[in-house]
Amino acid sequence: MELTKTPLIEAEQIRARVRALAQEIEADYAGAPLVLLTVLKGSLHFASDLQRAMSECLELHLEFIRARSYDGTASTGTVELLYTPEVGFTGRHVLVLEDILDTGRTATSILAHVRAQQPATLRLATLLDKPARRVVPIEADYVGFRIDDHFVVGYGLDLNERYRHLPAIHCLV
Ligand code: IMP
Ligand code: MG
Repeated sequence: MELTKTPLIEAEQIRARVRALAQEIEADYAGAPLVLLTVLKGSLHFASDLQRAMSECLELHLEFIRARSYDGTASTGTVELLYTPEVGFTGRHVLVLEDILDTGRTATSILAHVRAQQPATLRLATLLDKPARRVVPIEADYVGFRIDDHFVVGYGLDLNERYRHLPAIHCLV
């Protein structure tokens, strides 16, 4: 498989969209302390850029969770939570940051894990959404870009751990 020469989404488009999402999220939470739960590894650049686009007066707690469901370009159908934070989410506003909503299994499993701890509110932000691939019914509260059913890499997304460092999002063909 090869990278398409022209990115599907250019770095500058990502930057602008992530900044807009940060403003929308800030306005919705109206200054309340917020736990940003980053799903590793794919969301690392999304989370990092989103956090740094938020106001310095916000009280943000940065937490991380590690999930795995993919083997190559195929979803395995089972989700492993490999690392879960030790802090509790009870009574806190939690926003989960995903790289991409595909079948929906990963996000569903992470949301269930957090929901079991009774957070004050629980929402989902995803940089990319591939609605055509959904197996489990789930919608994100914040979506960066809706894309067609392509396998994409870059800006955190990988194929067997490759391409995560690319600044733009490319299709693999
Ligand atoms: P889901 O559980 O099927 O929704 O898949 C979510 C996870 O699968 C994402 O967090 C990604 O790690 C991975 N994934 C899904 N689609 C793609 C893709 O097009 N490129 C790279 N990784 C993907
Ligand atoms: Mg992955």
